[in-house]
Order: sequence, then structure tokens, then C-alpha cells
Amino acid sequence: MQWWESAVVYQVYIRSFADDNGDGIGDIAGLRSRLPYLAALGIDAVWINPWYPSPMADAGYDVSDYRGIEPSYGTLGEAEAFIADAHTLGLKVILDIVPNHTSDQHEWFQAALRDEPGARQRYLFRSGRGADGDLPPNDWGSIFGGPAWSRVADGSWYLHLFAPGQPDLNWEHPQVRAEFEDVLGFWFDKGVDGFRIDVAHGLVKAEGLPDRGNAKTTHPAFDQDGVHEIYRGWRAIADQYAPQRVFIAEAWVPSSERLARYLRSDELHTAFQFDFLRAPWRAETLRAVIDDAIAGAESVGAPPTWVLSNHDVPRTVTRYARSQPASLVESEWERSRWAEEQADHDLGRRRARACALLQLALPGTAYVYQGEELGLEEVEDLPDEVRQDPTWVQSGFTDVGRDGCRIPLPWAGNTAPYGFSPPGGAPTWLPQPEHWGAHSVAAQQDDVDSVLHLYRQALALRPGLWVEAGAVRWLVNTPEALAFQRGAAQCWVNTGDTEIALPERLSVILASGPHAVGVLPPDTAAWLAAPCES
Ligand code: NOJ
Ligand code: CA
Repeated sequence: MQWWESAVVYQVYIRSFADDNGDGIGDIAGLRSRLPYLAALGIDAVWINPWYPSPMADAGYDVSDYRGIEPSYGTLGEAEAFIADAHTLGLKVILDIVPNHTSDQHEWFQAALRDEPGARQRYLFRSGRGADGDLPPNDWGSIFGGPAWSRVADGSWYLHLFAPGQPDLNWEHPQVRAEFEDVLGFWFDKGVDGFRIDVAHGLVKAEGLPDRGNAKTTHPAFDQDGVHEIYRGWRAIADQYAPQRVFIAEAWVPSSERLARYLRSDELHTAFQFDFLRAPWRAETLRAVIDDAIAGAESVGAPPTWVLSNHDVPRTVTRYARSQPASLVESEWERSRWAEEQADHDLGRRRARACALLQLALPGTAYVYQGEELGLEEVEDLPDEVRQDPTWVQSGFTDVGRDGCRIPLPWAGNTAPYGFSPPGGAPTWLPQPEHWGAHSVAAQQDDVDSVLHLYRQALALRPGLWVEAGAVRWLVNTPEALAFQRGAAQCWVNTGDTEIALPERLSVILASGPHAVGVLPPDTAAWLAAPCES
């Protein structure tokens, strides 16, 4: 088995991981100094959100130079030293490539604004509709809210599926293709082990940029057949390197069948399966999501890829801290009910612990978003004036957006910045809550009941128990219980509100919470030793 088929990948949101120089913003030196923490956690790889120069219209997903390092994060030399250090500790390094759009400060877009010959053809400039051309060229909306089109001084419109500071590239243009292939090589040559591909399903738009109309599922900006040709080219580049370089797609497509198309053997290696992070804490739904994800990945021989949270969605503890919806939901919906129902974070944390054991017992690869291993909750009560996510402004101040899952990590101590920045530094770029000392790394370090301890134990046991353990064999089929055997171990999860009996004679290897012999309490999971009968 290759490392990427079973890896646990830790997502580093660099802005909020660790700040070395005291400006309140995470940086490469801070990340580098915490590499021993990551190695001790027991992960295999880190994925770092974009660290390139950026005006930060969308927290670094607006890149102005794909071959550089954002000055507030450090230098190219530091990035190289970080890659070398990570490799010395046995950790792979995955970067984030943002090919759907550049920053509006990128030299190409600046040339397009000046209307230099040919420059606008690298983006999607169009004339407006209406008698004076003052209506957007089509009916597409931005993912962050408002129209997906903005107008430049001479009256032309350009497409931005996200913020106005993120103009969409024209992937029909050969220079765009050549540029990104070169960027891949630039970082592969520096030893980077792979890329997470941002908006991997969005690069190619339907011919003629047609109106979306009432279509609910197929949006002409996404999941077009033409996108696969791009990834075949990227795969050919990755395959020239040893050791192997890999890709992970961020592709929000309507079904696991559509997702599998990105994972064909000459395309990408893995793709996030996001249904887990949209699923309620219900055994039935989780089981269906797992079966569907495994079937989709298996159909093309790719590993399933499990994600409980990331920098775009409410934290798991908080998603599980309220009454659970009947079926899969979107983040916007989750955020919309924060004011209506009180969160019970202890409950959410018990469920998140149980779900971590479920995630780490499944076949394939797993992602852990920084702070998940500390059991951090979403910060729901940020003051409006500190919000940074463009969603807040573009939604007309109706959706608070994603800042609440991007709060700087608490490392130690009882007052902000909790060791995130050195003492006496500038305020952190987003404020940390008052009670986060209890969740800091230092507070959990030696506490055997902590979330951090649970993750360390689970990650230490995972290679021996689960990595080569073969297919999932379901053991029970009730709305409250989820149980399966893989190899010589079983994973049991109780999402109901009464305890369930565990099989007699099997010993518990690891449990997500306290339990009496032979029973699994509500909102708890356990790994059991279950030697195969021979
Ligand atoms: C997905 C990224 O994860 C998200 O943070 C970003 O806003 C969009 N892509 C646009 O780049
Ligand atoms: Ca800093």
C-alpha cells in the first residue's frame, strides 16, 4: 500500500497555527517550531492552506504570486527549511494550489485591467446585458453571495465565482494551462509531496457561459467534462517524480459517481468525500454515507477519503452540540440556527470524540483539521467588526461565514493569546475566546481523558489495527448503532440515547468515553479486539 492510500493528513490553517514573530498572524517559523508536536501526534502528512503572497481578500485563496511566500508568513528559504524538517521527521508535505482564480493583484489581472493586448483573454471578461450593458452577462451568483460578476472602469464585466478579488481564469487559454503546469513543477522540485486542488471541479465552464436558470444540481460553472483533461496532464507531471507526488481534489459534486470520475487511474489520487461533514449524528445516515463513499472510491480503485471538518465548515463539536437534523445539511443551514438553539458543547465533544474513532477505523485516508485534536468548538459569538470572511459582507451581513472555525490555536496558558503568539505581541488576527486555556495543548498534554490523548492513542493504534485490515463488514443494522469488523478488530458507535450491549468476550482496546464492562453508553464509540475465527 502507498502512504497516500492510508495516510492521516493534518490540515494546517497556517494563519491560525502558531505565530513566531508576534504580529498576531501564524507563520512558517511558528509552524516549523511545532513540527515535533505534529510528529508526536502520529500523523503522516500535513496539508498547508495557501501560503503564497496574497492581499487576503479570501484568507490566501486569492494568490498574487504562485511561486512565492506571503511575506507575513515568511520567506521561500523558510518554506524550504520547513519542507526539509518535515521530511526529516517522516512527515509528507501537501500544499494547496488555487487554479480556478487568481488574486485581482496578480500581474495577469493587473495587465487585464490595463487592457494590455491579449491580457483579458486569460480571464473571463464579457460585455454586460441590457441596453447599456449594465447588467451582468449571466445569472450566476457568487458562492459568497451577490452576483458572480463585477464591472471594471471601461464597462466590461469579469467573472468571479468567489470574491470580486478572485477573478476566474480562462482554462481554455493555453498560457493558463502552461503556467499551472510550471507552478506544479516549481514546488515538486522543492520536494513538496502533493497538492490539494482548490475548487477542482470549477476550472472549466460550460461553453458560452449559459444562464443557470432554475437548475438545482448541474451548475454550468462546475463539474464540466473538460476539466478531466487538465488533470490527466497534471498526473503525467506528478508521475515523473520519485518519490511519488499526489493530488487531493476539493470537488463539491452531486454524487459519489461524479466524484469517482476525478479519481480515474490517469487523473487524481484522492478526493475529499464531504458527506461525513454534512451528516447528522445518526447511525443510519452515517452508515449510508460510508457505504456510498466506499463504493464510489472502490469503483475506480481509489482510497476513500474521510473529512469531519475543515476551514470552511462549522467545527464538529458544534455541529453535534444541538438537536440533529434528519439528513445531510449545508454549513449555511447549520450557522442559521446558532441563535435559535443553545449549543451543548460537552455533548458535542462526546460525539466528536466518538466520531473520531469511527473516522480513524475506516479504510482509506483521513483528514484532521487543526484544533479537531483539541476538541475545539466553533466560536459563534465573534463581534461583527472583527469578521474577515468575505461571506459576511457579500451575503449582505446575513451569513457570518467561516471565521468561527479559523480562530488561532491555544497552545498554553490561561489568557489570550494562549501561547499562539509570544508574550507582548500584537492581538491575534481573530480574537480567541476567554475559556480556551482549558483546551490548550499544554492543558491536555498529560491528561489521559483529554481529546488530545484520545487522538494520540487512536493514531498510534491505527496502523496495527486498521490500515491493512481490509473491507468493512457491518455487524448491526439499527438506527442507533453502527458496528463493523475489519480484520481482527471491531468498531462500535452508539448515536442513540440509551446504552447498547457490546459483544461478550471481546475486550475494549480504546473507547471514546467512560463505559462499564460490556456496554456502550450513548454518544460513545469503542474499538474492540475481535480475532478472526479460524
Ligand atoms: C475552497 C476553499 O477551501 C475556501 O476556503 C475558499 O474560499 C474557496 N475554495 C475559494 O478559493
Ligand atoms: Ca507572525
